[in-house]
This record gives sequence, C-alpha cells and structure tokens, in this order.
Amino acid sequence: MDLISALESLEPELEKGLDQASSLDELEQLRIEFLGRKGRLAQIMSQLPELAAEERPAFGQKANVVKERANASFEKRRDELLAAREAAALARFDASMPGRKPNKGSLHPDTLIMEEICGIFGKLGFDIAQGPEVEIDHYNFEALNMPPEHPARDMQDTLYITDTILMRTHTSPVQVRTMLARRPPLAVVVPGKVYRRDSDLTHTPMFHQVEGLMVGKKITMAHLRGILTAFVRGVFGPATQVRFRQSFFPFTEPSAEVDISCFLCGGAGHLGHDSCRVCKGTGWVEILGCGMVDPAVFEAVNYPSDLSGFAFGLGVERIAMLKYGIGDLRMFFENDLRFLTQFGA
Ligand code: DAH
Repeated sequence: MDLISALESLEPELEKGLDQASSLDELEQLRIEFLGRKGRLAQIMSQLPELAAEERPAFGQKANVVKERANASFEKRRDELLAAREAAALARFDASMPGRKPNKGSLHPDTLIMEEICGIFGKLGFDIAQGPEVEIDHYNFEALNMPPEHPARDMQDTLYITDTILMRTHTSPVQVRTMLARRPPLAVVVPGKVYRRDSDLTHTPMFHQVEGLMVGKKITMAHLRGILTAFVRGVFGPATQVRFRQSFFPFTEPSAEVDISCFLCGGAGHLGHDSCRVCKGTGWVEILGCGMVDPAVFEAVNYPSDLSGFAFGLGVERIAMLKYGIGDLRMFFENDLRFLTQFGA
C-alpha cells in the first residue's frame, strides 16, 4: 500500500475504534495505537524519505491535518465517556437517602485531665510553663541533683539522642528552665509529654506528666500539703483525704509520696463484701511524688539560699485511669474512637 492511501485509511479505522471504545482505559490504548510515539501515524511518517521530494510537502500537510483531526476526535470521545461515567454514578445516587452524620471530635482523656489540673492550679495562682521534649542532660538530670553515675538515672530508662541530648524522662527539667528564666516568687504547673524506654501493660514509651513548682520566701511543707489537698479535692471530690508517705527524690528534700483516700470505696477498702478493685483493699491510692526543693537545685540555678519551695510531679494517665476507671493504659494510645468518644464534652 502506498503511503497516501495508508494515511487515508487511518481515519475511518480510527473512527471505528473510537465508536467501539467503551472505557477511558480502552480509549487510551487506542490513542497509543494510533498516535503514540511508535503508533501507526508515526510509522507512516517515518517512511516520508521514501517519497519523491516534490511529493513530501503535500504529504506532510495532509498528515498534520489527519493528526489534528484525530486529536480532536479523541478529545471528543473522552468527554463523552467522562460524561457517561458521571451519569452512571449519579444514577446510583439516591438523593432521598438520609445523610450521614459527620463524626464530632472529642478531647482525649489526657487532654481533659491536663486541662482540669491546670485549671485548678490556675485558680490557686499558678502559671503554666512549658519546655522542650528533646532536652539536654544538664536540665533533665544534672541540675536536678543527679550527676553522671547517680543511681537514680538508671530508674528512668532514658532514650538518648546523643551523649548529652535526650528525650526528657520527666517534666522536672522545666523546673530548672523556669527558675533560670524567672525571678522568685513564682508558681508554675507544667503539663507535657515525657519519654522512657519502657513498654509493657502498665508502661508506654511516651506518657504525660504535670509538674508543679512554687518558690518564694518561707514556703513550707504546710503550703505543699494545703495546695495538694485543694488540688485532689478539686479532681476527686471534696471528701478526699490526703496522706503523705516519706520517700526519696534527688531533687527534693524531704520528699514524700502522696496517697489519697480511695474515691471508689471512700477509704473503706471494700464495697459490701468485695475488696475494692481501685485501692486493692488498702483504702488509699498513690497519686504523686513531691517534696521541698533541694538546696542543690537552687544552687544549680543560682538562686539565693534564703529561698524555699516545693515541687511535685504526677502521671496524667494514672490520674485519668483512676478518675474514669480505665483498666488498661494502652487504650490511651490505640486511637479507638469507641474509647475516645466516651470522654466527649
Ligand atoms: N520527676 C519525678 C518522676 O518523673 C516525679 C516527681 C517527684 C517530680 C517528686 C517532682 C517531685 O517535682 O518533687 O518520677
């Protein structure tokens, strides 16, 4: 077949193919077959040198016309197929169906508890302070009276980034940052994320704490007890009792752990004949660690020695578990909406 008639027979064949193409995929196959880089038109064009020189311009012109018309035909068929697809989708759509309600977001129990805690301390005159989650060893340990080799460092399962940079293991470094940035008297609470290399039923590698710090002249353990009593009564109800048990933290002296009377059994240790599942029959639940700021910490931030203050730190998930009766720590981080939406409001 000579080139001219090959070119001329291209158009009717293409039209036929276009009529038969019933999907966008088939259309694309057809386009490649006719107009692709190695398609039929390209093959015809590649034989141009075989024509006599005086035939070439007319042939070239004709080929261009064919190509333009073919492109236009493809375009047209494409629009038809798209419109058909749209129409089919609309035919399936039933405008009389009731709409789906969008899911309404709710606050995470951690967020709710942190907001509640900060709200209570806000009314007691505390500001909110924050610090970075990637912290330097100096603020996380050293300035908190935990020099290198201090045994208390082992308990913290630190995630190190370099020798001197780490993920903060507690919110206590913000005590140091706050004292370096501000002059006493001051009172702050610090809500935030902390990290430890620890993961099992009752530990997750990330969890939340709220730190507290009050520094001034003649701040005593009586203030600490008064503030913490007001706080636990705010969270767990006005009848809540507090008990201080002597303890140890490197950055406080003296140090204590605070228990509250069990809010489920009211401190009785049992409900009817059953031992209380919240306090395990003891009548008390531990909720935080605290103490009077150790003079070594004041020294690390160059505060004068006539100051005193108290600090405390609590685990947010622990409080949330107690308050909402959540039995499994992992639920906080599984993002199951059936769990999360229960705390709404
Ligand atoms: N930083 C401690 C921890 O993560 C908790 C803590 C205990 C904070 C006593 C304090 C405190 O400020 O006084 O285990």
